[in-house]
Amino acid sequence: MKGIILAGGAGSRLYPLTRIVCKQLLPVYDKPMICYPLSILMLGGIRQICIVSTPRDLTLFQAFLGTGEELGLEFSYVVQEKAEGIAQAFLLTEHFIGDDASTLILGDNVFYGDYFYNEDGFARTVREFGEGGLIFGYYVSNPQDFGVLEFDQDSRVISIEEKPKAPKSNYAVPGLYVYDQQVIGICKSLKPSARGEYEITDVNRTYLEWQQLKVQRLGRGIAWLDTGTPSSLQEANAFIEAVERRQGLKIACLEEIAYRQGFIAQAGFQALIAKLPKCDYRQYLERALSQGG
Ligand code: G1P
Repeated sequence: MKGIILAGGAGSRLYPLTRIVCKQLLPVYDKPMICYPLSILMLGGIRQICIVSTPRDLTLFQAFLGTGEELGLEFSYVVQEKAEGIAQAFLLTEHFIGDDASTLILGDNVFYGDYFYNEDGFARTVREFGEGGLIFGYYVSNPQDFGVLEFDQDSRVISIEEKPKAPKSNYAVPGLYVYDQQVIGICKSLKPSARGEYEITDVNRTYLEWQQLKVQRLGRGIAWLDTGTPSSLQEANAFIEAVERRQGLKIACLEEIAYRQGFIAQAGFQALIAKLPKCDYRQYLERALSQGG
């Protein structure tokens, strides 16, 4: 399974925060936003990860994340010259995907919950993924801002609409998608939508028409947060701060996850910590080290 993080876009709703740096590098409480989606891929056991971003921002991601070796990961970087939709990410990463299945996560989507931190949750879903497409459904108060699912009486998905004026349910499709290799062919056949984008909803619709789309509902114990506007970013900050302070455990702490997942051995983890400045983050990792993997 390959992983892709799409971290492009103009971030115009967050201007002027995004005037010189992209949204996905802005802080969500104590770490840059990209750590959150990256941690989800890592928790899914995915180690080959491609970051797709704008010509302006890609070098910043490279500076922040490097080759991935220290975390036991392998990062690739691909430029998206123009933001022409989520589905475009698969065309830009065709070479990287090769014959594998891939999981795409949006660089501004923050997920949190036991499902992601539990071996029997997302990691298992990724491990046991067979063919077709897999998307998620999450109950929100503002479905009209997202891709929206429609269900029949037997709770089967019968349609998906992108930002409908009259949503057929409260279930939005979060920015986390798992597809087999067919996704590349599907994306090649897409036509741009009215907003000039290659829509991920059209990809999902194709899998649905082929009866190859699985939809998993994410329950109420899971948080899926938006970070696209100043107030939603603020809410995500507050949420992460509240949970981290209450538990004394960090969310999306990449080094800790790499260690606990067995991507790096104790010596590698120790070496990584030794490079950090003296700070709370370092102390936290030292504690994780003393507790063992
Ligand atoms: C995109 C997708 C939408 C999905 C959302 C999740 O919306 O088009 O289907 O529900 O991401 O964050 P956009 O970010 O383009 O508004």
